[in-house]
Amino acid sequence: MTSAESQREALHHIAALRAESTAQRPTETELMARPKVVEVDHLDFSFGSRQVLYDINLDVRAGEIMVIMGGSGSGKTTLLRHLVGLMPPQPGKVKLLNKDMGSLKPNELLDLKRKIGVAFQFGALFSSMTVAENVKLPLRELTDLGEKTMDIMANLKLEVVNLSGFGGLMPAALSGGMVKRASIARAIVMDPKLLFLDEPSSGLDPVVSSALDDLILKLREAMDISVVVVSHDIDSAFKIADRITVLDQGHILAIERVEAIRNSTNERVQNLLNRRSVEAEVDPAEYLRRLTGD
Ligand SMILES: Nc1ncnc2c1ncn2[C@@H]1O[C@H](COP(=O)(O)OP(=O)(O)O)[C@@H](O)[C@H]1O
Ligand SMILES: [Mg+2]
Repeated sequence: MTSAESQREALHHIAALRAESTAQRPTETELMARPKVVEVDHLDFSFGSRQVLYDINLDVRAGEIMVIMGGSGSGKTTLLRHLVGLMPPQPGKVKLLNKDMGSLKPNELLDLKRKIGVAFQFGALFSSMTVAENVKLPLRELTDLGEKTMDIMANLKLEVVNLSGFGGLMPAALSGGMVKRASIARAIVMDPKLLFLDEPSSGLDPVVSSALDDLILKLREAMDISVVVVSHDIDSAFKIADRITVLDQGHILAIERVEAIRNSTNERVQNLLNRRSVEAEVDPAEYLRRLTGD
């Protein structure tokens, strides 16, 4: 990419990011008319003798934000790791962008990895390198772009997540919310078709986490990507999701559009919603301590 192209792209991104979101949720029919970008077919998984995923079937449609919800230990991260090829792939179980993850040759897998961006809950930044170097890592690993181009691409994505000017800092100098945004910048540095985020707002206070929700919505619009977000934050899920998948102890309880989840008569789904109203009465500092687990 030339720097003129990069600049044009930067302007396009920034304009799109600053625009008010006007997107309406697609109807069920509209959504189902779109191509599938993620397909999971009868996926089971066990750690040793302990089964953690039971007959998972789901799809994600182009341009959709799918939020995977469920209590701690319900299998959300394990499912996400299957989606991004970090678990031993089994033929016919997971397809991304129409490619069967279980039967790809190494070069095909690499090609696919260039099209997906991933930010994990604890996959924070490397503390020994600057923020910009962290963002450039996927480019170093997966492309043979020159240093200058990598710098431009990294700075472009830092701009997108509102961190322009912070690239030269070490991660320790950033706040929790900034670290999350920087890891999202790293996840989108390759302009992925698919973005996977594991608990992007965990450990953040409600205001910062709501800003992160806005960022995810704007990224979807500006970059025309599909997003899979793992979360246990129901307010965030209601705000950003087109559909929500509810996992309960390794089983899918529901895959529905937000309104349907809100009005669900399923008792277990309702329990999940009610947990939110209990938490809403909790002191924010106490809530944060609970989220961060300390
Ligand atoms: N590497 C592992 N070895 C054995 N069990 C694991 C491992 N990772 C996760 N588990 C177990 O699998 C279940 C699902 O975990 P996980 O996918 O991390 O859930 P979630 O992300 O929903 O909290 C949990 O019971 C967890 O203890
Ligand atoms: Mg998890």
